[in-house]
Amino acid sequence: MKKFISELMVKMTLEEKVGQMHQIAGNDAVTGPLNPSSNDGEDLRKGLVGSMLNVVGADKTYKYQKIAVEESRLGIPLIFGHDVIHGCKTIFPIPLAESCSWDLDIIERSAQIAAYEASAMGLHWTFAPMVDIARDPRWGRISEGAGEDTYLAAKIAEARVKGFQGDDLGSLNTVAACAKHFAAYGASEAGRDYNQVDISENSLRNIYLPPFKAALDAGVASFMNAFNVLNGIPSTINELLVKSILKAEWKFAGIVVSDYNSIGELVQHGVAKDKMESAELAANALCDMDMAGYCFRDHLVELVREGKVAESIIDTAVEKILILKYRLGLFDDPYRFSKPNRENELLLNKGHRDSARDCARKSIVLLKNNGVLPLTRNSGIKKIALIGPLAESKYDMLGSWYCAGDENDVVSFYEGMKNRFGKDYEINYSEGCEIDSPDEEDFSEAINLAEQSEIIFVYVGEAGLMSGEASCRTDISLPGNQLSLLKELKKTGKPLVVVLSNGRPLEINWISENVDAILETWFLGVEAGNALADIISGDFNPSGKLTVTFPRNVGQIPIYYNHLNTGRPLHENPTEHYRSRYLDSSIESLFPFGFGLSYTKFEYSNFSLSKNKIAFSDELIAEVDVKNIGDIAGEEIVQLYIHDKVATISRPVKELKAFKKIYLAAGETKKVEFNLSAEDFKYYDKNKEWNIEPGTIEIFVGPNSVELLMQKVEITN
Ligand code: NOJ
Repeated sequence: MKKFISELMVKMTLEEKVGQMHQIAGNDAVTGPLNPSSNDGEDLRKGLVGSMLNVVGADKTYKYQKIAVEESRLGIPLIFGHDVIHGCKTIFPIPLAESCSWDLDIIERSAQIAAYEASAMGLHWTFAPMVDIARDPRWGRISEGAGEDTYLAAKIAEARVKGFQGDDLGSLNTVAACAKHFAAYGASEAGRDYNQVDISENSLRNIYLPPFKAALDAGVASFMNAFNVLNGIPSTINELLVKSILKAEWKFAGIVVSDYNSIGELVQHGVAKDKMESAELAANALCDMDMAGYCFRDHLVELVREGKVAESIIDTAVEKILILKYRLGLFDDPYRFSKPNRENELLLNKGHRDSARDCARKSIVLLKNNGVLPLTRNSGIKKIALIGPLAESKYDMLGSWYCAGDENDVVSFYEGMKNRFGKDYEINYSEGCEIDSPDEEDFSEAINLAEQSEIIFVYVGEAGLMSGEASCRTDISLPGNQLSLLKELKKTGKPLVVVLSNGRPLEINWISENVDAILETWFLGVEAGNALADIISGDFNPSGKLTVTFPRNVGQIPIYYNHLNTGRPLHENPTEHYRSRYLDSSIESLFPFGFGLSYTKFEYSNFSLSKNKIAFSDELIAEVDVKNIGDIAGEEIVQLYIHDKVATISRPVKELKAFKKIYLAAGETKKVEFNLSAEDFKYYDKNKEWNIEPGTIEIFVGPNSVELLMQKVEITN
């Protein structure tokens, strides 16, 4: 490979080299401001384009590849990148939903199926996984990540990279992955997209970077810069991020791609006077590819000639891009992925749909249930009302970033319920209201229907595109008149089940107090309706747990479980005035991280540690008995947290350090074992090292981040 590439590079002009660093957008999807250039076709022919994004389909990728390979001087193949975020054609639940399964196997499988389909559509590279930690539900992109916790997000990052890339990038079924957005984009100030981020290096290292490191350790082929300014310096040119951490410390050898015109936007950020200076700064900050910005294309050659960018920087970037193309097998056969017959065979096939359904039901979180669920024959119920603007919606189920997904392939809630219950039950539907409208016109029809029924399922929430990029909200309650509709339905006195779809935690205080059951379903993808019916019927016992905290109100944001203690914690003396509290709200969350119910109940007991003192190199085994005390089988996600009581820097009151998902038959008890060592307790300390100091560590286990059993271990050196 090295020989092939160096021989090829000898033949390349500087213009052709810079061309490899230039990525242009096709128009099968719009994922940023449109800035196509009338030269694009010509540039392809001249060998001045290295990559395209937003071109989807075996035929279309073939068409462009043919130009690059057959009409350009050196015939270097293009690499096609796209946002394959939660499925390609077979749309899976949105990433935040998938994370609530805590099921690394199904998450890996979801990415693997996305890669099968994407590669069959001629794609080589996905701009995923998004591994940004997010603690602010106003931020629309919270829907694209794995929630608020660093440990869980790191595990999920690893699973997704493995799923996309498999063991061999040269295989026909895999695509190159991209860890994004480097870095700390999830901390956008005020939850507003593209906004600045100002955080300490301590937070950066301890909270935001570990999922990137996990992606890197899993072999991720590329990184993407973030749009945000980080501590005064845009991420795209932030030396601490790319030069010091990614390259020098982590020795990342793959490519770094800018975000969509994030190089051009250096001008708006006020660090470059024009696009020429943007190009200079970005190239010198070791950004290898300019996504849709035309800054490299228009200025890099001149910058090299003027000596402002060293040619060696260009050579290193180009070499890495060519290595990736080589590893993908594109020099052997540039068309190997663009084969319509593979597309026909793979897209949305039965196996893929089955996995999407499995993933969807595992992603659902049961937030409340007073016994109305599951809906079984012995309930005596015969007449079901399905109400709400999402009950018949197909499009919204796709969520944002639905890639090649098509609403016609979606099973709606109504269809799923008809499929499952239609034979034995009478099911009627009324929309009741729109998602985001002040209109109350259709309330009466819905109320009439509810009155004639024996149970009401109301499917409310956000539209699929109310979260995702550039889709932030300051009000995270139910949009429009949906809450008023619910209040009217409550007056009927009928059992009321609320099914929620949303891309962020919502403010649902009234709902949590007034309805009989709540299912948080996020956006579940093509099998949404079937998966929901699986849960409602009890064919599948819910097992999902929240990976983000649900606040009581916007004023509590940011609220997350792994916060630091204050010097005046409220619980120590709730009646004292000088305590950390709000005058007008509780400081507790509505639903905590890790929370989720099942149709059965689990009891935790006999929590013990193998030792009460360990040296740095010792192993520690934590054991707990978990018993299914209900009368149906179920899965439980057993969570282990730690708290470093006294350290040289303040440590979070709790931090997830391990979890296991177990299956228990009715009445069954399992001993759950966690193997730990002092390594697991390390953090980035004030001397800028990963370290653990001697002292006491509290270890907790339990079903969520609040209801926990505790033991202590002493670390000695
Ligand atoms: C901008 C988004 O921030 C990024 O996540 C995405 O991959 C690119 N656009 C390409 O669509």
